[in-house]
Order: sequence, then structure tokens, then C-alpha cells
Amino acid sequence: MGVDVVMETIKQYSNKRIKDVHLLDGGCGTGNYSKALIQHGICKITMVDASQGMLDKAIHKLSRYIESGVVEDVKQSKLPELPFPDTKLDVVLFSLVLHHLESDNGNFKQLQSAVNNASNVLVDNGLLLIIAQTHTDLCNNWYCKLNPNITRNYCQRFAPEEVYERYFKAAGLKLLQSIKIRGQLMADHFRSDGPLDASWRNCDSFWTVASNDDMRAVEEKIKELKDDNMLEQWIQDNDRTSEDGCITLFVCKK
Ligand SMILES: C[S@@+](CC[C@H](N)C(=O)[O-])C[C@H]1O[C@@H](n2cnc3c(N)ncnc32)[C@H](O)[C@@H]1O
Repeated sequence: MGVDVVMETIKQYSNKRIKDVHLLDGGCGTGNYSKALIQHGICKITMVDASQGMLDKAIHKLSRYIESGVVEDVKQSKLPELPFPDTKLDVVLFSLVLHHLESDNGNFKQLQSAVNNASNVLVDNGLLLIIAQTHTDLCNNWYCKLNPNITRNYCQRFAPEEVYERYFKAAGLKLLQSIKIRGQLMADHFRSDGPLDASWRNCDSFWTVASNDDMRAVEEKIKELKDDNMLEQWIQDNDRTSEDGCITLFVCKK
């Protein structure tokens, strides 16, 4: 999501031509984002992820780019560490990964280390791009309004925007833009009975913090709205992802 915005941002703010940019995809998953970036013109990319299983899929998916050398390296590594003592990168991208770092009761020390380490591996004028959900983005999802308890617990994993801003400054990075990306993270985001289906819930770690009591309350709320023939309208009224965004792209320059 937002690959076109990421590419335009690199074109606008990088001192280098796209063909010369070396980008690190930190927390690359199965490589979808890297693949899309390559298809949009990135010619040199390094991928890291904590999970070897994810990397195996990424290696399979991007095999022809690995053979051609466009993918320079695929490394198993766990953020906040960035094991690149001898490499300097033009762009570091963290897409939908930083909420996996320990939030330490709202301390976000691992997030701070990840930002510091990214700054250290960047060339001067290099870019740090972070795609993350903020509290505001999260609360734009209709299902976050079903049960405030789940939302409150889940929000603790996500640093507020002012925390990001503080960490960028301390790491010597200038925040150039924070761009709200509109749309939905899941294809069937608006499925009204989605919260009642485990396979739908499994696509979003939001539900992992829900207790049995929380889930009972969600079921009751959905039933009540459905019985009143109000469910679809309630979802439309309570979802702001199309208007206000579902994720934020932070654009920082060293
Ligand atoms: C939601 S996926 C995002 C994948 C990809 N960046 C994207 O935007 O499509 C999160 C990925 O982060 C990885 N991950 C979780 N914790 C990590 C850590 N501490 N260091 C590196 N990768 C991590 C997971 O293995 C998973 O592949």
C-alpha cells in the first residue's frame, strides 16, 4: 500500500537518481513491498526480516531479482539491530513492522534504537521512511469503535506521533513530512460480520489483544446493531479510513 507515494517521495527528496538508490527494506516480510518497489524502478535493494520463514517466501518470490543482483542481500536479522557495519544506505524503509517491537509500557526504547540505528546506516542526506499506524490512524477503523477496551490495549503497542518526532530529532533526522495514506489495509475491510470470523480476525493483530469477555461484548454489539438493521450504516458512520487515512508515512532526512 502506498508504493507510488513512497516512490514519489524518494524521487522528490533523495539527492540521488532512482537508479543509484540503495534501499533497505527492514521487516520485509514475504517481499511484496520490495517487489513492488523494484517494479517501480528501485535497482538496488537489501532485505531483512526476523523470520526465516518469511524470508524463504521472499527469496522464492524475488528469485529472478536475486539472480540479477537487484536484490543485493537477504538477511535474517531482528530489529532494532541493523547489522550493516560497512554499508551505507540511501533509504531505510520500515513498513508495518515497528509495532512488533517491544513497547515496554509506553517506553518505546526499541523503537528509539531502531530509529537511531537507521540514522547510523544512512548516508548524509539519506532518507528514513516509516509506514506505521498511529493512534489516530487506528481509531479511523470502524472495528476499533466496537469495544474501547480492545482499542485501548492495542494502542499501547503504537507510539504516538509526538514520540516519533522526538526520536527523529534525537537521532539527527529532520521530519520533512508525515503523509496520511487513505484506504484500507485489508481487501474485505468493510465486511460487517468480519469480527465474528476467526479467519478475518487473523489478518489483523488488533484482535490478538482481545479477551474472551471483549469478544463477547463485540458479538453483542454487532448483534444489537444487526437486530436494529443499523449495522451497515453504523460501519459507514464510524469508518474514517477513506477520508482521514489508515496509515502514516513519515519522511525523514539525515
Ligand atoms: C505486517 S508484516 C510487514 C511486511 C512488509 N514490510 C509489508 O509492509 O508488507 C511484519 C513483518 O515484520 C517482521 N518482524 C516482526 N518483528 C521484527 C523484528 N523485530 N525485526 C525484523 N522483522 C520483524 C515479521 O516477521 C513480518 O514479516
